[in-house]
Amino acid sequence: MNADDARRLLRLWDQQQSAYVAHRDSRFEAMLSVLELHVGDAPTVLDLACGPGAISDRVLAAFPKATAIAVDYDPILLAIARGALDDRAEVHDLDLVAAGWEHRLGTGRVDAVLSSTALHWLSPAHLLDVYTAAIRLLPPGGILLNADHLRFDDRSPTLREVSERHDARTQQAGLAAGALRYDAWYDEALLVPELAALAPERERRFADRPPQPPAPLEFHLAALRAAGFAEVGTVWQYLDDYVVFARR
Ligand SMILES: C[S@@+](CC[C@H](N)C(=O)[O-])C[C@H]1O[C@@H](n2cnc3c(N)ncnc32)[C@H](O)[C@@H]1O
Repeated sequence: MNADDARRLLRLWDQQQSAYVAHRDSRFEAMLSVLELHVGDAPTVLDLACGPGAISDRVLAAFPKATAIAVDYDPILLAIARGALDDRAEVHDLDLVAAGWEHRLGTGRVDAVLSSTALHWLSPAHLLDVYTAAIRLLPPGGILLNADHLRFDDRSPTLREVSERHDARTQQAGLAAGALRYDAWYDEALLVPELAALAPERERRFADRPPQPPAPLEFHLAALRAAGFAEVGTVWQYLDDYVVFARR
């Protein structure tokens, strides 16, 4: 698809996502700081479940010598990422729940694995598989940064309630400022004929993917340790939204 349409849809996507994720840009800023301070200013990043390319776009804009490998399974979002990102990015159509996806990336270097607002789509078992695949792609010292809502459970009813109320307020403010709702953003994307042609395939691919039980922060940290990461922790938090860090 043409770059202008793709960049417009990526901008609308960013506005839409910011209505669901408070301080989304601050979260990305923390990820990019850790990336630069630990890996340097010429990283190759693997952007897992990239959507239309939000992380890759920011990495490529911040670091002229960076390259990105962006992976997703939604054909509509993949088409937008291909149109929106420049030629320092390669975009791969891969299902993260399919065993062996990491072998289909080619043999290039990966310094950091980054993801945002996505891995909650995976079951806890698949999440452990993805973390295990990720560490195999990284050199010693390589890092993983995963930004996501990690919901409070029954042990933290007050924090859960406050977080839910804050989410509702963030959504209200974002929509009032003109952000599209998630479904309305897809409606907008489908006005582009070549994206509309991909809708049945998208429907088919995600027909049987029910929401997964929420995996709390402790699960992510334990799964990363079990996958073999030597150092795990968090580098950013706002209520129930975190950036989880792991170093091989
Ligand atoms: C809310 S979007 C986040 C996109 C982007 N990372 C961002 O922060 O804007 C969640 C993404 O996860 C992708 N996704 C969900 N399940 C997936 C899977 N099994 N394999 C690859 N991508 C998947 C979706 O297609 C979607 O692009």
